[in-house]
Order: sequence, then C-alpha cells, then structure tokens
Amino acid sequence: MGVEHILGRRGRGLSRMLLLAVAAAVVWRFTPVDASVSYDRKAVIINGQRRILFSGSIHYPRSTPEMWPDLIQKAKDGGLDVIQTYVFWNGHEPSPGQYYFGGNYDLVRFVKLVKQAGLYVHLRIGPYVCAEWNFGGFPVWLKYVPGISFRTDNGPFKAAMAKFTEKIVSMMKSQGLFESQGGPIILSQIENEYGPLEEYYGGAAAKNYVSWAAQMAVGLKTGVPWVMCKQDDAPDPIINTCNGFYCDYFSPNKPYKPTMWTEAWTGWFTAFGSPVPHRPVEDLAFAVARFIQKGGSFVNYYMYHGGTNFGRTAGGPFISTSYDYDAPVDEYGLLRQPKWGHLRDLHKAIKMCEPALVSADPTVTKLGNYEQAHVFRSKSGSCAAFLSNYNPRSYATVTFDRMKYDIPPWSISILPDCKTTVFNTARVEAPTLQIKMTLLGRFSWKSFSEETNTLDDNSFTKDGLVEQISMTRDKTDYLWYTTSVDIGPNERFLKNGPHPVLTVMSAGHSMHIFINGQQAGTVYGGLDNPKLTYKGKAKLWAGSNRISILSVAVGLPNVGSHFETWNAGVLGPVTLDGLNEGRRDLTSQKWTYQVGLKGESLNLHMLSGVSSVEWGGASSKQPLTWYKAFFNAPSGNEPWALDMSSMGKGQIWINGQSIGRYWPAYKAYGTCASCDYPGTYNEKKCQTNCGESSQKWYHVPRSWLNPTGNLLVVFEEWGGDPSGISLVKRTTL
Ligand code: GAL
Repeated sequence: MGVEHILGRRGRGLSRMLLLAVAAAVVWRFTPVDASVSYDRKAVIINGQRRILFSGSIHYPRSTPEMWPDLIQKAKDGGLDVIQTYVFWNGHEPSPGQYYFGGNYDLVRFVKLVKQAGLYVHLRIGPYVCAEWNFGGFPVWLKYVPGISFRTDNGPFKAAMAKFTEKIVSMMKSQGLFESQGGPIILSQIENEYGPLEEYYGGAAAKNYVSWAAQMAVGLKTGVPWVMCKQDDAPDPIINTCNGFYCDYFSPNKPYKPTMWTEAWTGWFTAFGSPVPHRPVEDLAFAVARFIQKGGSFVNYYMYHGGTNFGRTAGGPFISTSYDYDAPVDEYGLLRQPKWGHLRDLHKAIKMCEPALVSADPTVTKLGNYEQAHVFRSKSGSCAAFLSNYNPRSYATVTFDRMKYDIPPWSISILPDCKTTVFNTARVEAPTLQIKMTLLGRFSWKSFSEETNTLDDNSFTKDGLVEQISMTRDKTDYLWYTTSVDIGPNERFLKNGPHPVLTVMSAGHSMHIFINGQQAGTVYGGLDNPKLTYKGKAKLWAGSNRISILSVAVGLPNVGSHFETWNAGVLGPVTLDGLNEGRRDLTSQKWTYQVGLKGESLNLHMLSGVSSVEWGGASSKQPLTWYKAFFNAPSGNEPWALDMSSMGKGQIWINGQSIGRYWPAYKAYGTCASCDYPGTYNEKKCQTNCGESSQKWYHVPRSWLNPTGNLLVVFEEWGGDPSGISLVKRTTL
C-alpha cells in the first residue's frame, strides 16, 4: 500500500515531507559519519578515510578451498586491498530452492578467509555475471519458468532475481560479513554491464528494470555501497563504474560519486579454437597509472587469478577449461612473473601518493606533444606527480619543476614527492619466470565403448526435431537424435551410385553422425558462430537404415541480449539428396531421443559405477570410448596437470570430480604476430598458440587426489590415443 493511500488527501503534504525524509535518509546513510563504508567524489571511504583501493578478481569456484588461502596471500603480497568475486547462482541453486554452498562453492568460507588475511571483499552478486561462465551464472531451470524473460521488466524474472539476491545478502548478514557489521565486504554489485544492452530490451522496460534492480538492492540495507558496472544511468545512491582495457576516459554519472574501475582486464579468456591472449604488464601498468592520475581511486584486476572452469561450468559456447586469463597469479596458483611483481611495485608507488591523491584534484600541465604532468598538491603540503609519455614510439625527455626526466614510450613515471621517480610503468624490475612442465608419468588404460547403435530404456520418440537444452536441461552435454530411413530396392544409387547426400543443420555446438552404426563424420562450430552443418555422402542400403546424430553442447552462452532464447542442437532441416524422388526431408518425421550417454547413466566416472561394465584392453583411436586408469599420487608439492595433446575432445574425471572438457584437437586459428607493449591494446594484439591446441594442459587440483588408488576416467569423442596422456607438474624458473 502506497504512502499516499494510507495518509489520504489530507496527508499529501505530510507524505511529501516523508518522502523527502526518506530521500535524505538514503544520502545520510552513505555519509562517513554514520556508516563504516561510504563514498564521496574522490573515493570509497572506510571508517572515515578516503582510500585508494587495489582489488583483484578471484572467483572461488574456479579453484579449490585448499588453494584459497595461498591465492589470497599472493594477492595481499601483490599489494591488493580487496578481493572481488562474482556469486555464481547456478552453482548455488542447481534446482529451484535446493541450495548448495559446499566444496568450492563455500562462499562464506571464502569471504572469511579474505577477512582473515586482512583484506576486503567486493561481492558482485549479479546474479547475472557473464564471466565466461555457463549461461552467465543463471540456472538453466530458470529458462523454463513460465512467462520468464531474463534481465528485463518481467515479473517471474524479477521475483527469482530478488529471491536469490536476498538469499545471498541475508546469508552474508547472518555471518556478520558486511563491513557495517565488522566484516570484510565493503562493496556489492547488482546486475552486470546491462547499460550497453538497454536498447535491445526496449527503452522503457529496460529503464524500469534498472531502477527496480537498484531499489531492490538498496532496500536490502547492507550498510555498504552498491555498484552497477557499465550502467551510465545507475540510479543514486548506486555508483556506476567502468570495465575495460583502459578506463581513463570514464567519469561517474554524478559529481559526488567516486571514479571506479571494476574490471581492468589483465589479459583475456581463451576459447577452444582461438589463440591464447596475453597482455604485456607494461601496458596494464600504464593503463592503471592513467586511471589514477585522472582521479580514479578504485582499480580491480579482472582477473587477478583466473583459475579453471571445472566440470561443465565453462560458458561460451566454446570457452576453454582453462580460465588462466594471463592473470598475475596463473591458473595453477603460481606467480606469473614479471606481471605479478611489476604490479606490486606499481601499487607500492601509488600507495606512496595516497595522501595527495585522496585530498587533491590533479592539475594537468602539457609538457610536450605527447607529454603531460598530473600533479596532486594537497593543502596539508603533500605532493605527488605523474609524468606521462603517450608517444608509442619514442622516449621523451621532459622538464618538470626545473628537473629533467626521461620517460620511455607509452609510459608514466610516478613521483610520490613530486621530485623522485620511484616507478615507471615501462621499466620492469621484477624478474621474469619461465613455465616448465615436467613429465611425472603415464597411465595404464582399460577401455569401454559407448554404444552408437542402441538406445536405452529412457529414450523416447517424437515427431520432428527438438531443441537440445529443453531435453537435457543441461544435465549433460549429449543428446542422441536417431531416425530411420527406408530405401526402396529400386533406388538408382544402389546400382549406379553416387550415394545420396545427407545434410544436417544444427544450432550448435558440435555433432557426430553415424549411419547404420558407422561413423560418417564430425563437425563443430566456433566461438564466433556456434551453428554448424554436416554435408556428406550417406552409405545407405536397401531397406531400413538408421541415422544417429550425437549432438554435443560445449557450454551455454554467457553474453548477449535475451540469450535465454538461443538454441542448441539439431533443429534442421535434415535432408537426403540424390534419391529417385530427388530430395527427402527427414526434419518432421519420427525421431527417437536419448538424453546423455550410456556411460554417464552408469556413472562410469565414479568409483561407485566404474565396475558396472566389462572393461577391455585399451583399444585406442576409437571414437566415443571411455578410458579408465588407476594411479598413485606422485610426491612433491607442485601443481599438477594432465597433458592431453594426444587426445581429440571429451571430458576428464578424477575420483568422480570433473576436471572439465578437453579439446586439444581444436587448433587455434588466428594471428600470433610478435607483440610490443606500446600502443593501444586489444585482446587480439598479443596471442600465442596459433596452429596449436588452444589448450593442451588440464589442471588437476592436488586436493582431489589420494595418496594411492586414484581413479582417472576419460571420455573421448573423437578417437584420440590415450597412451599419450601424461601427468605433469608445473614449476617456474
Ligand atoms: C566483461 C564481463 C565479465 C567478463 C569479461 C570478459 O564484459 O563483465 O564478466 O565476461 O567481460 O572476460
């Protein structure tokens, strides 16, 4: 019931006053006097202090709880103040109302570990997160809620989003984890990069949704500010923030909000079939210094530790299992040097400038065509200067305050006392470390062939083709589509050839075609276009023929507008050309479906299920084959990986836990030219692995292994050679 309604006509004036009071209360709540975390135009204010904050993204499900303390410590040693993470809805609510917060989804444990280390947390609840995570973090069941439309002014969606957001906030509150309660969480986030998509959601509906989301979040009274990233119209008191490779162009939408960079991309993600991106640390440090000299006060590295897309959590489609991201701490938890060390040195230098940065605005002076000085001089006498050279080609010698300074191309020198250069973004003093992968051992395999010609009791028949995810509900990557084709004895091709041509059109992401049990072909899409078509001759005989298609999903989309409406699987048409009648369209005839593989339903990847079939010797190079091996853990403390170079495509489990999808046979297509740090960076500028596997090593978390008797199971789709699989250790030197 509205305020007006309660007060009636006489109360209108009163109600206006009440509204003003409420509005004032909102502003007042974010003043330093009353709340432990607030903000003003300069910075986030913690316990009355404006702070320059360095933050780094570490997504808790992308590593194991056993790795968390070390990762957090490395972030702290690298000069970070804050750990930022998304909250992964589909990991926490796998089916409606059934919550999971165990294992690497133990959010409370993660947040408490960050507190123990003496760092803060930025909790990006989303609950849409993008993040190259399966379905952008949405549970797949949400797609099937009647009447739902994601991320817009839609009742069922808003109800579900509010319920999950409240759930997380009340969980954090009950553990006393907000800074207002003495906990580490100083900031939260609602939604994620919605601004650029607003136009696709129809102006008014999008605007209503944004203001609803803002009110819903603020109404949860966390006592700490909320941000919306890439949301130029973020309603007060929410802070709109910038994401990108550079953010020095950015200003918040109100003069009383601080300038914050929630995603400073340290590298970029890898997709199967794409090269591996790298970002030179000189350019990253330059970007950060540019942001700070312009008056920015919060920088979050996305990612600081990228980690691994275990299981089927990779989004995309086609996002690789490694989410290394070329981050300062690598996928395995080792320092990436010199990146980590150079950023640590940058943070130290900027922290030396903190008193001047938080109390003064910069005075900008031109020192040359490409050269500038940004000087922060506070009333209390502190002075910090940033001397920049934007020329990507040459050194500059500038005169500043009667002194001469040499500045390398595309760099900034930091002078915390306005005199002495303590750091230059292009002069890297941190040591360089090389990665080394050392062979530890191979395996002795047994194999089991997945049936390609029989369907199990759960199969069902329908007229026409069905969308894949509506059938699998994404419980598995696999859906069999099977149909029969009668060929009359008078078909001319039986005598004179050529064979008819089978065409199968699929919305994605990959498929294997079998004709009468024989593999006819394999096709797959890619990051830029998940759609695919199979076209090949069909060796049919007179009588009844069976066409079986194994359609394989490779991660659900995590980005785009209305991506919940995107489809996967064989949607047709499916046709046969070259018969007496010309073309026969198989699209609308009867198809029989089976969700998942036989090996999956038997739990062959688990200790409990592995003995349910008769395993044979390792017949290699057969498609759709399960392999198992037992092995003992090697000694040492180094991180482990499986080198899967000899394999095609499939999935790996150790002791029942999924390492993820592997696909070393998908070679990286792109340009891997040599790369210098100067000049504007983009994710295609510095790539490696062109013509090689996008990913050949797959991280094996140490905590997943027992000293002896570990069960390794591999499901291979293409026919790779398991005798080539090896366990390796990763070291740096
Ligand atoms: C951003 C998004 C992140 C992540 C990133 C690319 O736009 O907010 O979640 O997807 O792009 O790695």
